[in-house]
Amino acid sequence: MSLVPPNDIRQKIREMVENSQSHPTAWFETLYAESQGDPSLIPWATLATHPQLEKWLENQAIEDNNQTALVLGCGLGDDAEALADFGFQVTAFDISPTAIAWCRQRFPNSQVNYTVADLLDPDPNWLEKFDFVLESRITQSMPLEVRSQAIKAIANLVAPHGILLLITRFRDTEAAPEGPPWPLSEAELSAFKTCGLTEINRHKFVAENRPDAQQLCIEYRKDVF
Ligand SMILES: C[S@@+](CC[C@H](N)C(=O)[O-])C[C@H]1O[C@@H](n2cnc3c(N)ncnc32)[C@H](O)[C@@H]1O
Repeated sequence: MSLVPPNDIRQKIREMVENSQSHPTAWFETLYAESQGDPSLIPWATLATHPQLEKWLENQAIEDNNQTALVLGCGLGDDAEALADFGFQVTAFDISPTAIAWCRQRFPNSQVNYTVADLLDPDPNWLEKFDFVLESRITQSMPLEVRSQAIKAIANLVAPHGILLLITRFRDTEAAPEGPPWPLSEAELSAFKTCGLTEINRHKFVAENRPDAQQLCIEYRKDVF
């Protein structure tokens, strides 16, 4: 494990974002590849299930074993594994081939279908296919210019009557934030509703490692009228 100060990693990420010209989130692959398998160089990697997903799962009873789940931007795979252990048929994708290879190496006997894909250009076969979609810290990692495209893509992946769980940083102003990450505003969150999702639960939480950041966990359902 290397001991790189978090401020140095943040500075490095800012520089990568500024130089990222081909695709707004292409820099993630550079970060994963340059870490050479050292998770301490991946700022969001805790190697554990997100506590908000754990809480959500504690309150669920899976009704049948054919329920499908999709994990967007799955990183190193811990949330996908938790959903598979719970009983979902899980597909998990990331734009970074290195992250996906890392997931497969960490969980060689996994039931999860790990795949490389781009949320901004998702597989058309995934349209409205998933009973449960996990969006943990993905939209916030995208610049404001592609945000409405990302939110529309996410909403389109949720099956009729399906659930989207959103775990995100929040900003209580519509002014553009300095990022990354770029916390979501109330106006940006309202785009999920415009895309056919109904908010059924929302709570604030504080992450141990970032007590200063406002964070939200929101559960949406795709109602069909
Ligand atoms: C901040 S990390 C969060 C990872 C994980 N969801 C978590 O909460 O720990 C954002 C993840 O989204 C992935 N990502 C970024 N842009 C993406 C895109 N356009 N399509 C798919 N994955 C993307 C990154 O590679 C990275 O693994």
